[in-house]
Amino acid sequence: MGSRIFSLCIWFTVLLILNGSQAQPGFVSLDCGGTDDFTDELGLKWVPDSQMISGDIANISVANETRTQYMALRYFPADNRKYCYTLDVIPRNRYLVRATFLYGNFDKNNVYPKFDISLGTTHWATIVISDANTMEYQEVIFLAKEPSVSVCLSNATTGQPFISTLELRHFNGSIYMTDYENDFFMSVSARINFGAESDDPVRYPDDPFDRLWESDTIKKANYLVDVAAGTERVSTKMPIDVNTVNGEMPPQKAMQTAVVGRNGSLTYRLNLDGFPGFGWAFTYFAEIEDLDPSDSRKFRLFLPGAPEINKLVVNIQENAHGKYRLYEPGYFNLSLPFVLSFRFGKTSDSTMGPLLNAMEINRYVKRTEGSLDGPVISSLISHYGSSSWANEGGDPCLPVPWSWIRCDSDIRPRITSIKLSGLNLTGNIPSELTKLSGLIELWLDGNSLTGPIPDFSGCSDLQIIHLENNQLSGQLPSTLEGLANLKELYVQNNMLGGSVPSGLLDNGVILNYTGNVNLRKGESSRSRRKIIIGSSVGASALLLATIVSCILLQKGKKSSPKKGRVELNLPPQRFVSSLGDPATEAAHCFTLAELEEATKDFEKKVGSGGFGVVYYGKLKDGKEIAVKVLTNNSFQGKREFSNEVALLSRIHHRNLVQFLGFCQEDGKSILVYEFMHNGTLKEHLYGPQIPDRSINWIRRLEIAEDSAKGIEYLHTGCVPSIIHRDVKTSNILLDKNMRAKVSDFGLSKLAVDGASHVSSIVRGTVGYLDPEYYISQQLTDKSDVYSFGVILLELISGQEAISNEKFGVNCRNIVQWAKLHIESGDIQGIIDPALHNDYDIQSIWKIAEKALMCVQPHGSMRPSISEVIKEIQDAISIERGAEAVREGSSDDISRHSMHSSLHTGSMDLGASDHYLSIDESITKPTAR
Ligand SMILES: *[C@@H]1O[C@H](CO)[C@@H](O)[C@H](O)[C@H]1NC(C)=O
Ligand SMILES: *[C@@H]1O[C@H](CO)[C@@H](O)[C@H](O)[C@H]1NC(C)=O
Ligand SMILES: *[C@@H]1O[C@H](CO)[C@@H](O)[C@H](O)[C@H]1NC(C)=O
Ligand SMILES: *[C@@H]1O[C@H](CO)[C@@H](O)[C@H](O)[C@H]1NC(C)=O
Ligand SMILES: *[C@@H]1O[C@H](CO)[C@@H](O)[C@H](O)[C@H]1NC(C)=O
Ligand SMILES: *[C@@H]1O[C@H](CO)[C@@H](O)[C@H](O)[C@H]1NC(C)=O
Repeated sequence: MGSRIFSLCIWFTVLLILNGSQAQPGFVSLDCGGTDDFTDELGLKWVPDSQMISGDIANISVANETRTQYMALRYFPADNRKYCYTLDVIPRNRYLVRATFLYGNFDKNNVYPKFDISLGTTHWATIVISDANTMEYQEVIFLAKEPSVSVCLSNATTGQPFISTLELRHFNGSIYMTDYENDFFMSVSARINFGAESDDPVRYPDDPFDRLWESDTIKKANYLVDVAAGTERVSTKMPIDVNTVNGEMPPQKAMQTAVVGRNGSLTYRLNLDGFPGFGWAFTYFAEIEDLDPSDSRKFRLFLPGAPEINKLVVNIQENAHGKYRLYEPGYFNLSLPFVLSFRFGKTSDSTMGPLLNAMEINRYVKRTEGSLDGPVISSLISHYGSSSWANEGGDPCLPVPWSWIRCDSDIRPRITSIKLSGLNLTGNIPSELTKLSGLIELWLDGNSLTGPIPDFSGCSDLQIIHLENNQLSGQLPSTLEGLANLKELYVQNNMLGGSVPSGLLDNGVILNYTGNVNLRKGESSRSRRKIIIGSSVGASALLLATIVSCILLQKGKKSSPKKGRVELNLPPQRFVSSLGDPATEAAHCFTLAELEEATKDFEKKVGSGGFGVVYYGKLKDGKEIAVKVLTNNSFQGKREFSNEVALLSRIHHRNLVQFLGFCQEDGKSILVYEFMHNGTLKEHLYGPQIPDRSINWIRRLEIAEDSAKGIEYLHTGCVPSIIHRDVKTSNILLDKNMRAKVSDFGLSKLAVDGASHVSSIVRGTVGYLDPEYYISQQLTDKSDVYSFGVILLELISGQEAISNEKFGVNCRNIVQWAKLHIESGDIQGIIDPALHNDYDIQSIWKIAEKALMCVQPHGSMRPSISEVIKEIQDAISIERGAEAVREGSSDDISRHSMHSSLHTGSMDLGASDHYLSIDESITKPTAR
């Protein structure tokens, strides 16, 4: 009760603060890129984002989108900066922030943007646009800790970051209070209105907090599929008692509709973005059907892998104490999968099937703490109110630093470099700078700073100080001598006086103090001694030696970011040696006689590929080899051949078939590789059916991971990078342990260094060929990603890339076929029967969805091979986890105990600093 009274007080304060400034108290609705204030058809008052000084405005026009806030957007340069909006909030209050993104091809580029957004310092979401006319949105619920919160866009990987609207909604209590809110945000994954009467979400003014209760009728991939037969939509006009003082329960309109399982079950499956993870999950029930007194409605929730949960029986009328009243059981901390399948099933003594009105699932996102220098730097910028550099917003270091700052990479970073050159700064050097204990470089040159140089002894790591071309006065402080790491000090063209501290002259600091009329060179203690001992010539020779050794030291020092200097940023040199005299380096030259003996005169043919026939061989030392005799026209000239060989000999990676040497004799061109005992992936997937050859799902995932790593090495580990151009199952070879290696790489041309693509004759294998490459002839690393996507589909389905019969009429291609099934939620329809249900469906979903991304028509929309690897690894860990459960070796589930306890949170004023790690806590259901 105390908490209610308290929140009431806060609420009145809020009203006082915000009254008059907004049509809806506690709401901020920013129309990014807009020009005028307006009120929309819902009654929400929108204001343009004129506080944002960065970025540009674009007007767009999207079919059937008439809302003013979606006619314009703001976009930002695709650089390594962040662009932040700052919203005023009240500490210790809870808010919803929603950001929306409608691309509308604003840049006339049709390159679908992909970038990150962060809330404060915490990564919030990666925005991936996949359709010009579809709006993407993200919502997050959080407890404010500071008087303001920033929403930042950064890290564009494709296109330019942009935003259509930014909305802030102030909660009133709230039902979203959790034990974890000091350390976690809640990212909204699903908020569903079941039995909805249109595709439009229920929101303001039905929901006083303008949450979006999404309609269950919307058609999108993997959203509420696998609906049980007998599911019926019901609705009522009767008022529903949502039993709430602060208005935060689902709105009546969402509760007036529901679905009922007439056959005894309600089932649904949907994807939960960002999961697997820990989440907050509540269901909302109200009896809205007229039941006979003799009827009863009792049911249980069944979640796969969580047998404990189905012990709880819901009896809506009994739990809610009557009809048309809300009952809201839920879990504050539940481990949920990426693909959530759930079922409500009636109990045997119930006459009616289950009923469901609404549901909410939020994912916990760990808050990242900000830079340790945050408070100092906010005090510093407060002196420079309107300057644009002082208004970049958010944390100085995270998720990316401000344009004039560099930070170290600690979890709580420190500022290492400040560059404020030529910005017309006036007044004294801000004393805050002396409190940045991690500072290494300071640039304040070319301003109009006056007054003395402060004491920098608190910045003991300082190496470089630029204060030249200001109007600084006073002396060069002797505290500068104490900076043990100081290497360069520039103070020329100021109004400094006195004498240069002798320590600075002695310590080999590069020092320029010309143009300070009253500043004299002091007497160096060491040179004085020298003068006593030797001649003045000796002294200057010593000085010269000092300067030279400094310059050498400078060169050897790790390069720190400095503007106006040329930085030699050499790419990593992973090749054994540079391109030069070919063939003579690491590549071993076999004689033809040697190879004839090893292969017993090319007796055993083990394969044939685009470039020639492969024979089995065994060298004298017992090493088994694969000998590839190239067809004559593969390589015209000797020179070309030796170039290719030189290249091959430099590529080494665990997941690439090892090249051992070559032979060019008698008009024959031969390449020698390590022998791979288990043949090609293709043989294993479709070869003559030997039962034990069929490979299980986890093995397939491992093969996918191995081969993706091989490709990743070609793309990112080689300089210049290499595009394989012929990625396919017959080019993935398996060793004794069934680990995969990629073969036939490097036989294609090197990708041209620096350019994003090279043009050459289209080459590749039908079924794996990137359609964009085929049309444009522009080859990029994304062409390999396309082919790899096809392999992923083959691994799931056990179907070849091209088939005349398997994929139905008018479809010869695995991509079209799989896409159709996956997008309609029917994954079972493509899973290889040879996998015998011995897999976790989630890991298959993960791979299936990534595979579809890989085979997107445009290269720019495909992920990089490194992103694909990450997804495969996630799938592997899901699968391993599931395997452990299947084998009964995990007690994870039995640990979750159930208490049907009432959640009695108290208004938390920062006293509850008991940190509870979500992973360790116990799942407890609750009903308020
Ligand atoms: C966008 O439209 C507004 C109002 O219609 C107009 O004032 C503005 O100049 C337009 N901006 C651009 C970039 O076209
Ligand atoms: C726009 O609305 C019209 C009429 O309601 C409809 O026929 C059309 O398919 C819609 N277009 C798009 C792109 O949604
Ligand atoms: C930027 O995005 C890429 C891929 O989307 C990711 O690998 C990288 O870590 C991100 N960088 C930052 C600073 O968040
Ligand atoms: C917020 O809560 C107070 C009482 O706790 C209530 O009077 C008020 O109507 C609520 N505000 C909204 C928007 O529901
Ligand atoms: C500095 O001031 C001068 C003169 O007032 C002005 O011309 C110049 O644009 C200013 N530079 C910056 C970076 O503000
Ligand atoms: C010192 O600064 C002056 C003025 O900027 C410049 O002309 C001179 O070359 C500098 N001397 C050294 C040794 O860098």
